[in-house]
Amino acid sequence: MGCKIKLLFLLLLVAFFSASGNHMVDPKLQIIPVPRKVVFERGVFRLDSNTRIIFENQSLRKEADLLTAFIRDNLDLPLSENLNWRPGNSIRLLIDTTLRIKSNEGYVLSIEPQECILKAKTRVGIFYGVQTLGQLIADKNFRSEEQKCQMLPAVRIEDEPEFIYRGVLLDVARHFYPVEFVRKFIDLISEYKLNTLHWHLTDAEGWRLEMKRYPELTKIAAWRPEEGWLKWRREGKRYSTEGDISAYGGYYTQEEVKSLVAYAADRFVTIIPEIEMPGHSDEVLAVYPELSCSGKPYTQGAFCVGNEKSFEFIENVLEEVMMLFPSSYIHIGGDEVSKKAWAACPKCQARMQKEKLKNTKELQSYLIHRVERFVNSKGRKIIGWDEILDGGLAPAATVMSWRGEKGGIEAARMGHHVIMTPEAYCYFDSYQADPKTQPFAFSGFIPYLKIYSYYPIPDNLNEKEAGLVLGAQANIWTEYILTSDHVEYMAFPRLLALSEVVWSPRENKNAEDFKYRVGQHIGLLQKKGVNVFTLSDRLELKLEPDIFGKRMKVWIESEKYNPEIRYTLDGTEPDIFSPLYRGPFHVSDSARIKAAMFTAKQRSETVLSERVDNHKAIGKKVIYKTLYNNSYPAAGRETLTDGLKGGLTYRDGQWQGFLKNIDVTVDLGEVQDLSFVSLRFLQLKGTGVYMPQWMRVKVSEDGVNFREVGMVPNDIPTDDSSLFIKDFKAVFTAKARYVNIFARKYSGFMFTDEIVIY
Ligand code: ACM
Repeated sequence: MGCKIKLLFLLLLVAFFSASGNHMVDPKLQIIPVPRKVVFERGVFRLDSNTRIIFENQSLRKEADLLTAFIRDNLDLPLSENLNWRPGNSIRLLIDTTLRIKSNEGYVLSIEPQECILKAKTRVGIFYGVQTLGQLIADKNFRSEEQKCQMLPAVRIEDEPEFIYRGVLLDVARHFYPVEFVRKFIDLISEYKLNTLHWHLTDAEGWRLEMKRYPELTKIAAWRPEEGWLKWRREGKRYSTEGDISAYGGYYTQEEVKSLVAYAADRFVTIIPEIEMPGHSDEVLAVYPELSCSGKPYTQGAFCVGNEKSFEFIENVLEEVMMLFPSSYIHIGGDEVSKKAWAACPKCQARMQKEKLKNTKELQSYLIHRVERFVNSKGRKIIGWDEILDGGLAPAATVMSWRGEKGGIEAARMGHHVIMTPEAYCYFDSYQADPKTQPFAFSGFIPYLKIYSYYPIPDNLNEKEAGLVLGAQANIWTEYILTSDHVEYMAFPRLLALSEVVWSPRENKNAEDFKYRVGQHIGLLQKKGVNVFTLSDRLELKLEPDIFGKRMKVWIESEKYNPEIRYTLDGTEPDIFSPLYRGPFHVSDSARIKAAMFTAKQRSETVLSERVDNHKAIGKKVIYKTLYNNSYPAAGRETLTDGLKGGLTYRDGQWQGFLKNIDVTVDLGEVQDLSFVSLRFLQLKGTGVYMPQWMRVKVSEDGVNFREVGMVPNDIPTDDSSLFIKDFKAVFTAKARYVNIFARKYSGFMFTDEIVIY
């Protein structure tokens, strides 16, 4: 919080004290996403049973009803709605086309002691203003129970979004969720000012949309004999039939879809349907095998691009889809296509020859171009995953960048619109806390503060290119998410972080303040019956080595707001009498830090226990005989001796990735007594990251003649999918200046960090 804002708060506290008599009001607003501009004024607006809601335009009835519902649900006050304005004690909703705010989604909310006025240029602005007001109405800090009223601080809020595309992908193909849940989900995302539901309706695991022209898609391809995703895949990806006793799955009827689209539109949420092609289409090819290269069911996942019938099918499906969904965008997938069958298919080869296509990437691009022409001819536009860049991007396509931001940057430089959804920040199928404490998830580690740190415009885009980035999206892929309760758990509170990323100006973001607000909103979400993740008890150390002072600065961090943390430095268990953590401290040499959170004198279950090593290799030069992989350099050549250790994900910029054996030597600068060397590794089988087979340590006085002092075998099973982090340690006595470490690769990647030497 800036100094000016702090000062403002202090002044306000004084102002409130004098203005509201007995009612001391904490002026901290708990709005998510944080508004663009907030100016506090003097006094309070008293919302009570005499308050009237005035809307001067019939078209605002829905927003007025929504506001009335917020008040009824939170305050239990019977308010009246009225079309005619009378002075005093009212909340007025007002369309003002001359309002000086750029975006149609923006609004100005003026809470004054006499009345509360919400203005916007359009209904959508009023809707978002009502959401903001609703959050203030739900805020218990402003409640006066004895006077049965809500004391809202006088404030002027001017707000509008940073990005026009604020999306969430919900994957209903891997697991089907009932229409009531989709409705609830739309309510929730709209309350946090997200405006797009990217509906992943089709994939190998199930086709979820009733198609009048192709009834087999929902009679067969929407059902499978096995609920578990992995088991279903391992057992040959078979389908079942609607009504079979063991059939697992489901689909949305066209009537349900129409009603959902209308429901979403009332909340200013656009539903963008995704129909996957040409890959991720096993379910289509199981029921219409003539559309695959082999002509046989259960053999391929991609349409035959040489076959005109594929295009006939795709166009017929898209035609029906466009009748159901009025969105200006239609998402046509395009990701992860296996092109193997195309290379050996006579029809595909003939197509390539006729169209003068050099390779199968260009064949995929041919399909995307053709489908784009069809979609454009109906007045709509396509979005595709960043693979649609391969082989030549279709002229008007919007690119959804998921394999990092690279595809998005490339597309923006080519003048295309871009939506950012990089895996490392936006994949909500990842863990949000230590995997040991969580239901099984796909992979990775993306706690809510990691998403919060994201900004959708890469630094290396110029202003014009930056303007092509429409926004960002979170993807809830559901391979391991069987129930809608579990979807909620993976989505919240992480979507709150995304909401602030895409709505709020970057300079208004503040992680500490956000933690405070998230804490409050978790309670609000629970009250609404949302199965929200209530944040991790895990504590983390943040370290800053002071090489000259030979000491380490240590912070103990939590994702909860301002918890009571107690810690020890001598390896004993922290208790209620241990020192209270008040801010960073220094550790000389090394220490075993143990720390835990305390609530009402009770220690949290998770106790942090970590060695801080102010060891001999910190800041010393590392000579790389084999080099790390370009994609995972971490901090480059300083990484392994920077005193910092990698955390729960190999993507945290601290772990260094190798695709070769590791062969590195540390030069300690002078010959000295040594007794210990360790190197840390991470294993996450699902992502192809493994422990080394073994690690060998050699030492030398002159850098020429080395002798082996340690050989450490791996004892972590290579077939276990859990996340493992292990220190490979060698204990010995030697006099040396150079320490060589060799780690033998097992398979895939090795990720390592911090060579500790004593
Ligand atoms: C994707 O995650 N395959 C878009």
